[in-house]
This record gives sequence, structure tokens and C-alpha cells, in this order.
Amino acid sequence: MYRISELGERVGLSRTALLYYEKLGLISGKRMSNGYRMYSDMDVQRLTLIQQLQNGGLTLKECKACLEAKIEQALLRDRLQQLDAEIAHKQQARDLLAALLGEKPLSGWHEMLDKVAPDAHLAWLKMQGFSDVDAQRLRWLSKDMNTHESYMADFEQVYSPLDRWGPGSEGDTLAALNALPQKPTSVLEIGCGQGIATTVLAEHLPVPITALDNHQGALDRLMERAKELGYAEQVVPAIGDMSELPFTTQSFDLIWAEGCAYIMGVEKALKYWREFLTPQGLLVVSDIVWSGDTPSEEAAQFWASGYPDMQTVTKRIKQIEASGYRVIKHFALSDEAWQNYYQPLQQRANELKTQLIGSQALIDIQAELDIFYHHKPEFDYQMFVLAKA
Ligand SMILES: C[S@@+](CC[C@H](N)C(=O)[O-])C[C@H]1O[C@@H](n2cnc3c(N)ncnc32)[C@H](O)[C@@H]1O
Repeated sequence: MYRISELGERVGLSRTALLYYEKLGLISGKRMSNGYRMYSDMDVQRLTLIQQLQNGGLTLKECKACLEAKIEQALLRDRLQQLDAEIAHKQQARDLLAALLGEKPLSGWHEMLDKVAPDAHLAWLKMQGFSDVDAQRLRWLSKDMNTHESYMADFEQVYSPLDRWGPGSEGDTLAALNALPQKPTSVLEIGCGQGIATTVLAEHLPVPITALDNHQGALDRLMERAKELGYAEQVVPAIGDMSELPFTTQSFDLIWAEGCAYIMGVEKALKYWREFLTPQGLLVVSDIVWSGDTPSEEAAQFWASGYPDMQTVTKRIKQIEASGYRVIKHFALSDEAWQNYYQPLQQRANELKTQLIGSQALIDIQAELDIFYHHKPEFDYQMFVLAKA
């Protein structure tokens, strides 16, 4: 038998708390002839059980109902759900700390943060010492700061000999060019890569073309190509960030951006780039879109992580118009445009299969190729020819 102070010590509760428990009928001491209340082992055990139920989120009253077998199943189920949510939350927090210590992959966390707080995510990556370029690549490609360097090395190994870094074809570039209502006199190409579209533009538009990318190697290759084809005087390479353009406003009457607006977010790009267009300015931009409203689960899941902001054409057009443009023409890129990109990419992935065993970059590239083979009718690459409204 225990006095109230001894009982308190055993179960880690204060005297006041125990008196309150007694008032609720959760324990019941026996009054002895000397006036002291004494408690039994049964009280200790009841209190231990109550503490466990409280840890599960039950109030004291609910604990009592539980001990008296009067608790409602619905209430227990509700508490169980709350507990599961708390555990998941804590697990997430634990995973993050473990990942920051390099013990777990960080990709899920980077993806989540990019959705809920993209600007804070970018600022945080820069605080960790990533350059602007690497922070952007981490968001889009490696998605894990612990493995970023090796991921990018593999990625570059796959892509560097390829001419195209996204779907496109000369025919599609020309179709957009022919839809322009007037001939531009100053052109800016954004995300020009190695200049596959740049040289088509240079051939058909005899005006200066500023070609901007944040990848120096790509710009070097572009200039080699321009020299070979005789456009070296016409094309001006510019190293820079598409979201911080190093130009004065209203500098161009045509901005061309194939397969790159998604990097800064299409809506954001539309609004920001508009400032750099003259009042009659034109914008040509291409973007991957859903063909219908109900994609298969597999495709939806893949693009939810690969491109969470992927929209239907109708939704993109609404955003385009709300951002201050008129749609002159839009069309889906040809099959040839997809083949131009995916055929050499698959060939390169096959070549490197034995060399890059277990490479996450190669796994991700193959996953994208497989989605293309199995689900292509569910998405399109749309070219939008727009005029400043
Ligand atoms: C998918 S590729 C498309 C390249 C090219 N337009 C094509 O269709 O082949 C995206 C291009 O955007 C460039 N890029 C990525 N982030 C950028 C940024 N923040 N500013 C400028 N260029 C960027 C990449 O280096 C790459 O060349």
C-alpha cells in the first residue's frame, strides 16, 4: 500500500493531480484509521494504463470511459487517425534530419519544398553554397543536395554529345516563325541550349539574335555551330539567368523560348519576359501540356514529380491571356520533334548502361523515356505564338 506522496513518486504525478484523478473516480484510496489515504498496486497499474491512453491522445474522461469499457469505437478510430497523422509528421521531420546528415535521400523533401515554398527553397540552397545554376539544376534534375554533384556528372555525360536537349524540329520552328504577323528587328532567344533553333532563326530572320543560356558549354557549342554555318556575326551569345535578364526593358520585338519556360515556371516567365518586349512585341514559347483532363495514374504520378505545374492547353491559354498576351497560333509539336529528342537520348542511355550502373540520373532518364513510350498520347508539346496584348 502507498501513501499519496509515494504513489505520486512511482507514477510521476503531483499530489494535486492525483487528488483530481481521485475526484474523477480514476483511482480510489482507502481511508485508514490514522486518517491517511492509502493506494494499492491496482491504482499504480490503473495510472500506468491511463498514462498510455493519454499518450494516444485520450482525455482523462475518455480514459475513464475506456477503463469502464464504455468508449465509443468511432472516437478511438478518430484518435488513431490523429495519431497516424502525428507519426507521419514526425517521421517526415526525422527523415529530413537524417537526410541532412546524409543518411537518407532528400529528393521527396526538395520536391515538397519546391511546391510549397519555391523561393525559400532556392534561397536556402544558395545559403548551402550552391551557385545559382546548380541550385536551379538541383530543383529540376538531381533533387538531392547530397548526391547533386555525381548526379549532374552522369547527367552531363549522357546529354553532352546530344544536339537537342528537348523535343523540337526545324519544321516546327519554321511553322511558328511563319505564323509571326510581322518581321522582328531584334530577337532574344532564351534557353537556347546548343543553338539548334537559333541557327534556324538566323537563317530566316536577317536581324541580330541574342542567344541566352546559363550553360557556358552550350553557348560555346552554339557559337561553333554559328561559325560553321556563317551566322557568327549575327548571333550574340549571352550567359545569364532567364529569371534575371541582363537587358533593359522593351529591348526586343521577338522573344523565342523553346522548351525552357517551365524552368522558372511558365506563368512567371510569361509575366516577367513581357517587360522586355516592345509594345508590338511577340513571344514564342513551347511547353509540355496534358492532352486531356484525365491522364492515367502512371503518367500523372510521373509528371507530378517531373513537372508538377503541367497544365492542359485550355488552362495554359487562360494563363497566357491573363498574363497580357493574345494567342496568334498554337499547335502540337510533330512526332518528328519527339523522335529528334528521344531517339538519340535512348541510344545514349543504351550506350552508357554498363558504365553507369545504378546511376540515379540514368534511371530518371530511362523513366522519362518509358513514360513517353507507354503514355505519349496523354501529353503534347505545344508551341504558342503570342503577341503582347
Ligand atoms: C530543355 S533545354 C532546351 C534547350 C533548347 N531550347 C532546345 O530546345 O533544345 C533547357 C535549356 O535552358 C537552359 N537553362 C536552364 N536554366 C536556365 C536559366 N535559369 N537561365 C537560362 N537558361 C537556363 C539549359 O541550360 C538548357 O539549355
